[in-house]
Amino acid sequence: MFGWNKPKAPTPANGVYFSWTPECDIGIQRFDQEHRQLAGLINQLHTLMVVKRDRAAADQLADQLLKMTRTHFASEEDLLAETEYEELESHRQQHSDLINELRDLHRQFKAGTLSALAMPNFLKKWLMEHIQNSDRRYVPHLKSKGVD
Ligand SMILES: [Fe+2]
Ligand SMILES: [Fe+2]
Repeated sequence: MFGWNKPKAPTPANGVYFSWTPECDIGIQRFDQEHRQLAGLINQLHTLMVVKRDRAAADQLADQLLKMTRTHFASEEDLLAETEYEELESHRQQHSDLINELRDLHRQFKAGTLSALAMPNFLKKWLMEHIQNSDRRYVPHLKSKGVD
């Protein structure tokens, strides 16, 4: 083992914490736009918490992120309800689980019992998985209803 030759932890080539690539898009314009906005806020939160270590600003941004996440979830749920999506209930459940988890993390962050990285890390992982697995599942349904 050549310990001195160990590679550094990988960082994205462009230095962005959550870099959104066109492959991340699901092909429903209004939601892709909202997903990109959320990714942008997660990047800002990461910068505030980890690079600038500005707790007050991070706290404010976390509030904003929570609000925007709620708004995005509501817009998905409304459209899915309107178009009678069969898996609406399980999708709704996933959204509400995330909101609860996020609220909990935010509380812990405020109480000072959470590392600064935990929130952006959780959000990045959860959002990516949810979009790529669950959001993608409603795409054929919405397309069949003429949504693009
Ligand atoms: Fe979504
Ligand atoms: Fe969703």
